[in-house]
Amino acid sequence: VTPTTGSLSSYLAIPNAALSVSRDTGTIQWIEEDVHPSALQDVMAKYGIVGEDLFLVELQTGEFLIPGFIDTHTHGPQVPNMGSGQEHELLDWLAKVTFPTEAKFKDVAFARRAYTSAVRRIIDNGTTTCCYYGSLHLEGTKVLADIVHNFGQRAFVGKCNMDRNSPDYYVEASSQDSVLHTLELITHIRSLAPSAGGSPSNALVQPILTPRFAISCTPELLTSLGGIAASDPSLTIQTHISENAAEIVFTKSLFPPSILPTPPNHHGPKPTETTYAGVYDAYGLLKSNTILAHAVHLEGSEVDLIKRRNAGISHCPTSNFNLRSGWAKVGALLDKGIKVGLGTDVSGGFSPSILTAVQHASIASKVVALSAPEHKHTQAHHHTAATTIPFANRHLPVSTLLYLATLGGAEVCNLQEKVGSLEVGKEFDALVVSVREDSGNPNLWGVDLDQELAGSGSETDKSELEGMLERFLFCGDDRNIRRVYVRGQLIGGKEFRRA
Ligand code: GUN
Ligand code: FE
Repeated sequence: VTPTTGSLSSYLAIPNAALSVSRDTGTIQWIEEDVHPSALQDVMAKYGIVGEDLFLVELQTGEFLIPGFIDTHTHGPQVPNMGSGQEHELLDWLAKVTFPTEAKFKDVAFARRAYTSAVRRIIDNGTTTCCYYGSLHLEGTKVLADIVHNFGQRAFVGKCNMDRNSPDYYVEASSQDSVLHTLELITHIRSLAPSAGGSPSNALVQPILTPRFAISCTPELLTSLGGIAASDPSLTIQTHISENAAEIVFTKSLFPPSILPTPPNHHGPKPTETTYAGVYDAYGLLKSNTILAHAVHLEGSEVDLIKRRNAGISHCPTSNFNLRSGWAKVGALLDKGIKVGLGTDVSGGFSPSILTAVQHASIASKVVALSAPEHKHTQAHHHTAATTIPFANRHLPVSTLLYLATLGGAEVCNLQEKVGSLEVGKEFDALVVSVREDSGNPNLWGVDLDQELAGSGSETDKSELEGMLERFLFCGDDRNIRRVYVRGQLIGGKEFRRA
């Protein structure tokens, strides 16, 4: 089951497919439809595959393959905090819950223990590409990058830049320190040996600039980071934007229009009012390789600016509900052609699984639909041709949820040429999913029942596959993830843990 490029509202579900992955490059070499077990020998002969070339993974009834999940926003050092502090909104939550925990990552031994456990859990939940915030510490964040590298996950790893408006025990000494440590981390990550077939630009783990959010960065620091981004255009950037009402008020007060530099590539008069996106833009940090988490309360002009710069949005609905931040208008962003992926935002979000983000993205889109003034009207529209109606103000279909979790995330990370869908020539980042009763997840038992009632034996048809996908997205968890592959390598999943 795979999303396809260019369609946010449909996906391919191919029963009885056979797919081959190169051992050398980890790329998908061919995909054949409708290969029944008895015909497998013929297909292999057609492609000149002989027995010893082959490592065969056969799927049973109730199992299917999907692209790996892409988590476009999470915090490694907040994994130990998952599920605590639900009573707070963002700024209190940072001060009371988050900063005290992140500060512990000064201790490198603690960081190693915590990150080893965190990354293993994230992989086994099916995340094949992950955008990680580390803490502000250089050494601890190097350890995070090392662990991700050793586990074979595809990732972006950055250390937080934060030189103001943070507690004394958890703040960088100066903007110069912040910049030096950032450059040192970039060098460290680029020195990690690239795996199969790779130059550093092809390495699975990439550095990412991580100004925590505008509030925590001085203008001097943002200026320096913008300079690094300008001199190194391939370097990805991640930050938070427009998450919480009090945060936005504070941001605007810190960056009045009078102090904002004129943005690079700016045409026309300088803006007379500050917007959150405008702050990042002014410092050269709003680019096609910028990942903006949350985007809950964007103004219309910011949406246009983000589209012009082709920056991507990480939609973090679990966190946005949990910290009472609000709900992002994802449908409207998709209608504008803005890149959108999903983020778990642990521990603002209380789950490391993109499945939870999928479920809450569905609920968030329904909240948007319910609160839209033309609610009844859009509901009536819903049954017309799915490809032509806009996404704004209606619930996201399963196809779009799958897209956000995979190919949409790849686009946000500018990795859509490599991953995000199962297509010939792309790298094989994929999950073997089981919704069988013996997966150990009783919530999905109904799938077996359906098959039994349909008397379908070993044949799975397309509508059954679609049903399995929907139930997996809404009721599945790591028990249903048998195997996790990145670039053709088995790196996690239930079967990997058992081996
Ligand atoms: N804004 C600044 N830091 C954070 C963080 O750690 N989590 C979330 N959700 N928002 C932030
Ligand atoms: Fe976050």
